[in-house]
Amino acid sequence: MYKLIRPLLFKIDAERAHGAAIALGGVLGKAPFRPFVKSLYSFRDERLRVRVLGADFENPLGLAAGFDKNAEALSFFASLGFGFIEVGTVTPLPQPGNPRPRIFRLKEDEALVNRLGFNSKGMKRALECLKDIRDEGIIVGVNIGKNKLTPNAAALSDYEKCFESLADYARYIMVNVSSPNTPHLRELQERKPLTRLLQGIQALNFRRARPRPILVKIAPDLNESQLDDVLDIAKDTNIQGVVATNTTVLRDGLVTPKSEIEAAGEGGLSGKPLRKRSTEIIRYLFRRSKGAIPIVGVGGIFSPEDAYEKICAGASLVQLYTGLIYEGPGIARRINKGLLRLLERDGLRSIQEAIGRNA
Ligand SMILES: Cc1cc2nc3c(=O)[nH]c(=O)nc-3n(C[C@H](O)[C@H](O)[C@H](O)COP(=O)(O)O)c2cc1C
Repeated sequence: MYKLIRPLLFKIDAERAHGAAIALGGVLGKAPFRPFVKSLYSFRDERLRVRVLGADFENPLGLAAGFDKNAEALSFFASLGFGFIEVGTVTPLPQPGNPRPRIFRLKEDEALVNRLGFNSKGMKRALECLKDIRDEGIIVGVNIGKNKLTPNAAALSDYEKCFESLADYARYIMVNVSSPNTPHLRELQERKPLTRLLQGIQALNFRRARPRPILVKIAPDLNESQLDDVLDIAKDTNIQGVVATNTTVLRDGLVTPKSEIEAAGEGGLSGKPLRKRSTEIIRYLFRRSKGAIPIVGVGGIFSPEDAYEKICAGASLVQLYTGLIYEGPGIARRINKGLLRLLERDGLRSIQEAIGRNA
């Protein structure tokens, strides 16, 4: 069905199509539509359950950050069968992001290039939306960042503000230091600034009655020594997990004509071309840490096989964004059903048994 309407959808500017999906999702996620959407798309099976980060996930597949930046259609996305939803990146103050157009489809590669630059309605708006769905039992992670005008030297204060404001409504907090579209943000992945940032957030966190799991999201463009640093820092600062990966600034191995790639310009590349690299990083992190730190795997997941590959490489949970654009709203159900088939093929009783099996 989606494959039939996709060519029409793809005629519309990518960001306008996305805006329409969020607006429609805001309506369809509410009564009386929600049970209907759920009956079409949800899929449950005990074997898909994953217990990690102190929570019980109904299935391992989440919606990645960036899709519902302001938490405005959360109930809808949960009804599509995702086991958890990551909202954000949320910045303290509202900001418009970069000039449009800023999302481009590279259809031949089943990829996207975006340079949104943290367009965010700010933490106050996200808070209102998160309060609204508080009792719905959805597992929500909140991905936080800094405003563009905040220099890196003052970044901690932005992350602290978002953390203080939103932690009560988040099952986990994701510290995003890997978007390529906020100038100098990725420099916060380096040893000193990352240690300082995570220590600062943890200092606030450990003052809470119930500390939240803190995770850090990294770029696929880090080398092995930088990945080793991330693991050391994760251990030293006692954070609970690493998300691998964000979008890449590289344009290797694409089949889209060069002129089209150049016309899209700068930004982060996501989708199928990212799949292999992000899986390699997951495997590296799992091996080096001997499975000690939970990994959330993201990058180029379109099929059950793609999700399973990342889980077997060491991801406890997985997420997708671009796959939803290309495959449509049935993707979570298809992947979850397919995962069961793959478990049966390999004689495994649950997803939990598959984690790191092929690391
Ligand atoms: C249009 C777009 C916007 C995104 N915005 C964010 C964001 O705000 N914060 C973030 O951490 N990641 C963001 N991402 C990255 C995704 O969460 C994900 O890490 C990346 O796209 C790789 O997964 P995929 O290949 O399944 O899309 C965005 C991705 C896209 C395509």
